[in-house]
Amino acid sequence: MKHYEYAGAGMGSGSIVAVFGAYGHTGRFVVAELRERGHVPLLLGRDRDKLVALAEAHAGLEARQASADDPASLDRALDGAAAVINCAGPFASTAAPLVEAALRAGIPYVDVAAEIEANADTFAHFAERARAAGTVVVPAMAFYGGLGDLLVTTAMGDWTAADEAHIAYGLSGWHPTGGTLAAGVVSSRRRGGRRVRFTGGRLEYHDDALLTLEWPFPAPLGPQSVIGEFTMADVVTVPSHLAVPEVRTYMTAKAAAELSAPGAPAPAAVDERGRSAQTFVVDVLVRSGGVERRVAAAGQDIYAVSAPLAVEAVDRVLTGRTRTTGVASAGAVFDAPDFLRALSSHLSLHVSAGTRG
Ligand SMILES: NC(=O)c1ccc[n+]([C@@H]2O[C@H](COP(=O)([O-])OP(=O)(O)OC[C@H]3O[C@@H](n4cnc5c(N)ncnc54)[C@H](OP(=O)(O)O)[C@@H]3O)[C@@H](O)[C@H]2O)c1
Repeated sequence: MKHYEYAGAGMGSGSIVAVFGAYGHTGRFVVAELRERGHVPLLLGRDRDKLVALAEAHAGLEARQASADDPASLDRALDGAAAVINCAGPFASTAAPLVEAALRAGIPYVDVAAEIEANADTFAHFAERARAAGTVVVPAMAFYGGLGDLLVTTAMGDWTAADEAHIAYGLSGWHPTGGTLAAGVVSSRRRGGRRVRFTGGRLEYHDDALLTLEWPFPAPLGPQSVIGEFTMADVVTVPSHLAVPEVRTYMTAKAAAELSAPGAPAPAAVDERGRSAQTFVVDVLVRSGGVERRVAAAGQDIYAVSAPLAVEAVDRVLTGRTRTTGVASAGAVFDAPDFLRALSSHLSLHVSAGTRG
């Protein structure tokens, strides 16, 4: 396989950041974001041809083939990297081997996993070793899991506990990638086809029917029909560091229907950054003793926005702007309001004035 020289990888030109699954839909956004911020992406993945094609499109970047089930290949792939971002899902197969490799290399690990069980596994299996190594492992550092946690943490403000957290996803639609669909299949299989929700301070598997209700998104979106208990990775990230026994996530009914439609089309680029026309509002409401606090974020394309989220995380880890070590979610490891402000060119924030009693 042809190897590519680093372009300007000297001092002061940013860090070498490995991207596993670099040629996937989300991986490509992450590679572009790293370059935009002056980092040097190291392109990793299991398919040589796809790596070579991506490296040619980014003349000067190095590509290394590696397989999640071959630890030695992962060690070679991570050699010289300052951090790794794992974009290769389903993460049920890739997260543990990549975290192991990052721990062996002594570098921070960030992934974009939206799989509840895989994210829970990362917390359960690596908490002690990551803490003992003094390194940071941030699962779900993306639209699902990461952004919701940053918003909940921001909405909580000085609260360390709340009775409930609600995260409503106002997606204009959802054309899923192959990776999203594959992750959904793997997660569903792991649940034996059952549904999952977070209630009473724990994950609960059940067979109850999903309810449709109306969620009052802030203007200009306004009230939308949503599926209740459309459970996303926030039910792992939020309770990992905040005492909230009820965490519920909701999805616009239109987006949920598009996701599950047979032959759902893949996202199509409509702008020079490769973003689709999809828009989103993530509306977060936390409630404690009858008092509500609320904050929302709006933007374009849930896959594209995952790149600035993951890369901002890596930037902060590499510059020591972290609050903890070990396995930690976005809201636990970073200054959440400051993190969200830093992404103002990708996310517009809407904080409701005051709190309601
Ligand atoms: N939390 C979030 O909000 C969020 C946001 C974006 C993406 N994601 C997740 O990220 C994953 C990727 O999504 P995507 O949109 O980029 O999908 P995609 O375009 O289909 O790309 C999937 C990527 O994963 C790689 N991959 C899959 N299984 C692998 C394995 N066992 N070993 C090595 N590489 C493997 C694929 O490589 P091959 O082509 O060689 O198969 C490809 O590079 C999905 O699981 C998705 O759910 C989550």
